[in-house]
Amino acid sequence: MELMEAIKGRRSIRKYKPDPVPEGVFSTLMEAVRWSPSWANTQCWEVIAIKDPTVKSELATVLPKGNPAISSMTEAPLVLVLCAKKGISGSYKGQTVTVKGDWLMFDTGIAMQSLCLAAYSLGLGTVVVGMFDHKKAEKILGVPGDVEVVAMTPLGYPATGGSTPKRKDISEFVFFDRYGKRG
Ligand SMILES: Cc1cc2nc3c(=O)[nH]c(=O)nc-3n(C[C@H](O)[C@H](O)[C@H](O)COP(=O)(O)O)c2cc1C
Repeated sequence: MELMEAIKGRRSIRKYKPDPVPEGVFSTLMEAVRWSPSWANTQCWEVIAIKDPTVKSELATVLPKGNPAISSMTEAPLVLVLCAKKGISGSYKGQTVTVKGDWLMFDTGIAMQSLCLAAYSLGLGTVVVGMFDHKKAEKILGVPGDVEVVAMTPLGYPATGGSTPKRKDISEFVFFDRYGKRG
């Protein structure tokens, strides 16, 4: 699949078929994560792949009631939880080197996008899930104190396509030479 086609065609998928994700496909998606760029190649990400229906159900309880991805958490055959080791990205010799502090959100975000695009190119659906009780998720999954859960995605074959939310026009977010200066 051509890259721009994948970037523009990927949609958040919230309805899944029960069909399992083949192992080869799973490995390809982990390669997509593996080859993502990261701060000084620190690769702070870690992935927990959840197949166990009991764990998926328990994890679904960390999403607030209004989160439209709740049912996807149990419907999809797999849920991938992207975690990150703290204090690595954005740091040198244990000290953060920019005002942004830990860059783990950034690196994990890139890895998630690589994963979602690769999944889409292989016919699979994803939806980034960020609105949930992270502390509760960490407890359920036994995540140690030096690691944090960042985001998750159900993974499986789409039962229905996603709608296409409108995007801003390019002219609304691009400036030239100075902030606010339009072309
Ligand atoms: C950081 C982040 C967090 C998100 N959290 C949720 C979420 O908790 N629940 C949900 O249903 N969708 C979530 N989404 C999906 C967005 O709603 C979706 O990407 C956006 O509406 C654009 O739609 P599209 O992905 O189909 O292009 C999240 C997306 C991102 C990037």
